[in-house]
Amino acid sequence: MQPVGIGIIGTGNISDAYLKAAAQFPVIRIVACADINMDAARAKAATYGIEAVTVDELLADPRIGIVLNLTTPQHHVPVGLKAIAAGKHVYSEKPLAVAFADGLRLVEAAAKAGLRVGCAPDTFLGGSHQTARKAVDAGAIGTPLAGTAFMMVPGHELWHPNPDFYYKAGGGPMFDMGPYYLTCLVNLLGPVRSVTGAAKASYDTRTIGSGPRAGESFAVEVPTHISALLQFHDGAAVTITTSFDVWKHAHGHIEIYGSAGSMLVPDPNRFDGAVQVSDRKGDWTEVPQTHLYGDGNYRILGLADMAEAILDNRPHRASHELSLHVLEIMEAILRSAESGSRIELTHPAGRPAPMRDDLPFGQL
Ligand SMILES: NC(=O)c1ccc[n+]([C@@H]2O[C@H](COP(=O)([O-])OP(=O)(O)OC[C@H]3O[C@@H](n4cnc5c(N)ncnc54)[C@H](O)[C@@H]3O)[C@@H](O)[C@H]2O)c1
Repeated sequence: MQPVGIGIIGTGNISDAYLKAAAQFPVIRIVACADINMDAARAKAATYGIEAVTVDELLADPRIGIVLNLTTPQHHVPVGLKAIAAGKHVYSEKPLAVAFADGLRLVEAAAKAGLRVGCAPDTFLGGSHQTARKAVDAGAIGTPLAGTAFMMVPGHELWHPNPDFYYKAGGGPMFDMGPYYLTCLVNLLGPVRSVTGAAKASYDTRTIGSGPRAGESFAVEVPTHISALLQFHDGAAVTITTSFDVWKHAHGHIEIYGSAGSMLVPDPNRFDGAVQVSDRKGDWTEVPQTHLYGDGNYRILGLADMAEAILDNRPHRASHELSLHVLEIMEAILRSAESGSRIELTHPAGRPAPMRDDLPFGQL
């Protein structure tokens, strides 16, 4: 099998996770990287033994079949459209776009060109979340009826030296962390039908806690505490809260309540973690892991799956439909919070195919 050539655009923070994980999947081979900051690209290229090139050179490289877009959210669509115009498939970091209309434009451009769009997160393909999916599908908790999801932290300005973008349009806790929680929920429960949101910003300004700008304050331009009720097509009702305003809490990441029992789902920002279920009255018991890719760094699994899917001519799992649906949910929550009314979604996505548990490591 000839591996699919990958070119990375955007060699910042998260690129190391991808570059380190890549060797585990023979279906992909990262050949080059590019960044508007050429020094950053050259440094990564030297560390990982790949080529540093300009964005235009990367897009013109016939060895590259998929562009891995690891730029910051505002650049996901412009860079993605350039890659499509150059005849490349695109796999992007989350969110797909900072506005639903832009995400739709990207997906439509790819469809017109006969190319694929994939998007992070891919943690839902990991061992723990596939174990949860298999247990739900096997009826371990009966029919899912309701659930909760909580992502609440004090705010990234505590550790991030340039945290301003988290508090501007396209930022906030829902766009930043919502993709992990919502993708995980759609994988378990299917598409969301409607949302009702409420949101507020608890502080007008935030103060940078580290780096050369420590002590500097900047204005908060988006809501930082966002709650919503998600009503799923299959009937489940899930409440979700994402917040940058909470110092400490004791809620689980995700809990699903079914007609025959309950399930604790581990952190959807990770591949590992214990899945626990209880029957109607019993204690929590851990579900034995049924799938590979649990303990470790597999933050490239969605891209590897897309490469195999291209070669096998099957749908890929971390898909444009799924990420567009998640983007529409996030945007609708914020719109609902502003208008005070429930919003019906227009672009539902089916559940991605479950991962197979009968294949050797590295084959998807
Ligand atoms: N940092 C994390 O822990 C983390 C975790 C999961 C997901 N993500 C996601 O990954 C993406 C990147 O995050 P990051 O933390 O690596 O950001 P970063 O700011 O560290 O890196 C982004 C890089 O992209 C480059 N870039 C921006 N626009 C470009 C363009 N038009 N053309 C070429 N290069 C361009 C920048 O120069 C920079 O080197 C974001 O969407 C983020 O949500 C980050």
